Amino acid sequence: MDNLIPTTMLRKKIWLVFFAMFVFWYLLLYGAGWESLKPSSHNQENILKVSSDTHQDEDGFSKIDMVSTDESRNASNVSDNDQNPSVYVFDPNETKKSCEGRYIYVHELPSRFNNDLLQQCKSLSKWENMCKYLANSGLGPDLGNPQRLFLSSGWYETNQFSLEVIFHNKMKQYECLTDDSSKAAGIFVPYYPGLDVARYLFSSYNMSVRDAASLDLVKWLREKPEWKSLWGRDHFMVAGRISWDFRRVVDEDSAWGNKLMLLPETQNMTMLTIESSPWNKNDFAIPYPTYFHPAKDDDVLQWQNKMRRTKRRVLFSFVGGARPKMERSIRGEIMDQCVASRRKCRLLQCQEKSNKCLRPAYVMKNFQISDFCLQPSGDSFTRRSTFDSILAGCIPVFFSPGSAYVQYLWHLPKEYTKYSVLISEEDVKAKKVNIENVLSRIPKSKVAAMREEVIKLIPKVVYADPRFILERVEDAFDLTVNGVLERVNGFRKEIREGKSISLSFDEESSWKYYTFGLTGKHEWDHFFLRTKNRTW
Ligand SMILES: *[C@@H]1O[C@H](CO)[C@@H](O)[C@H](O)[C@H]1NC(C)=O
Ligand SMILES: *[C@@H]1O[C@H](CO)[C@@H](O)[C@H](O)[C@H]1NC(C)=O
Ligand SMILES: *[C@@H]1O[C@H](CO)[C@@H](O)[C@H](O)[C@H]1NC(C)=O
Ligand SMILES: *[C@@H]1O[C@H](CO)[C@@H](O)[C@H](O)[C@H]1NC(C)=O
Ligand SMILES: *[C@@H]1O[C@H](CO)[C@@H](O)[C@H](O)[C@H]1NC(C)=O
Repeated sequence: MDNLIPTTMLRKKIWLVFFAMFVFWYLLLYGAGWESLKPSSHNQENILKVSSDTHQDEDGFSKIDMVSTDESRNASNVSDNDQNPSVYVFDPNETKKSCEGRYIYVHELPSRFNNDLLQQCKSLSKWENMCKYLANSGLGPDLGNPQRLFLSSGWYETNQFSLEVIFHNKMKQYECLTDDSSKAAGIFVPYYPGLDVARYLFSSYNMSVRDAASLDLVKWLREKPEWKSLWGRDHFMVAGRISWDFRRVVDEDSAWGNKLMLLPETQNMTMLTIESSPWNKNDFAIPYPTYFHPAKDDDVLQWQNKMRRTKRRVLFSFVGGARPKMERSIRGEIMDQCVASRRKCRLLQCQEKSNKCLRPAYVMKNFQISDFCLQPSGDSFTRRSTFDSILAGCIPVFFSPGSAYVQYLWHLPKEYTKYSVLISEEDVKAKKVNIENVLSRIPKSKVAAMREEVIKLIPKVVYADPRFILERVEDAFDLTVNGVLERVNGFRKEIREGKSISLSFDEESSWKYYTFGLTGKHEWDHFFLRTKNRTW
């Protein structure tokens, strides 16, 4: 009977295929377009019901059976092959996520807490005029594309301490802002505490000067009606320097930093920072800003593909300086090993003069030609360099879980061996391990798989250009907002259920509690001993 199919039916079949493809691409490209297709109400219900079902994948697409939207395409008229062709149908609620439960209210702070600091950009750092870094919404000067190392656009000379400004500018574009704080899931406090405290670091300002703005801010917050509803549990802010700058150990003028993160008010808030304290429960680490700030989804894909294709001639590299004054530091040993593995390791030393480490093109070039990038702790656990190396598709090698695994919980995968290598810093210090040997023993196929994991992380660790909106890619900002709101919603749920807020664990074990959900003995305990050599 096969060859007796009338030609009209054949034409119909082809037309059906074309129609299905058209619908597929239309929906793929113009997501929200369901209304404009105007299917019969019965079929729309049907589609929405199926797509709200369990088989959604990460991209916001649902694999569902095609439902005919018009009588002339009654499935029973066509042959078996064409019945119920599976297509991906765009669920408008997934990608254009509803704002329900995601509204954010942004406090309108007096300008002394943010904009006035930008006006003082010349005096924000003892070392450097910060004004140029405030250009382009906080991204810094455009880098162009020297030696075709980058892309034709999207690359900026971003300062590692600019996150407060970038994050605030991104928040101004957030899709679910509300003026009605009673509707808000979270309350954002656009204070620039890092810029504030930086004015007084490396100088002899007394404690009361250093603490003044922080104390002023929390007083301001506490007097607002928004504070009372949850006692600040729904409030969050970004402190774009490491936690230790805001946790003065003792109240002495000679001690480092201010006490922003120690105040009773900030204990109740979610404090976002580029390096959190493993021993405290109110701060959460989010990625340092890197040099790449895509303006559209395609920039991200282009960059990922470029990093997949790039030739990696060097097994491992290290960009950084020694820490001769820090007794615990393994930097010296690492640099010695790199020099000894001359043909396998590239060393870019950070020295006082003509500091190539501060030149993005040198740094990124090094990482782009390396399989592995060494990321030992410096003055503190974490480094901006970690994110620059991920950006370059270079597999990070850590020497302490404090450098990433217990830090960036919302941005990096739990299974750390898939995208990184951990070599114990104690073994390096004791000269019990040869880095080149460890890395060259990893099979090529495993290296390739790890690199692919790293490249997949790129969108999650970049902050997209705050002047544009990405359609599909979730960037570091999006993941941060999700993480904060999930935390706050957890508090609300506990309060609704009449439980006490689940922060009663031993604060000293915060790193274990947040990373693994437990506080008992752990094989990483030795990495987190508070030693005499460390001031915090
Ligand atoms: C989509 O969102 C709207 C508005 O929030 C809601 O009424 C509807 O039930 C949602 N549909 C699905 C399939 O989740
Ligand atoms: C499709 O065809 C079946 C069987 O011929 C029939 O029962 C059904 O009513 C038809 N549906 C439409 C929408 O025409
Ligand atoms: C499809 O089949 C149904 C009955 O099975 C018929 O009423 C309808 O006209 C057919 N549609 C087309 C387009 O041939
Ligand atoms: C701290 O320094 C400021 C300005 O230098 C000064 O006015 C103030 O009295 C000092 N406070 C204390 C407690 O020393
Ligand atoms: C912090 O929250 C608790 C309730 O969880 C509340 O009793 C306390 O007063 C809050 N602290 C401040 C400074 O508002």
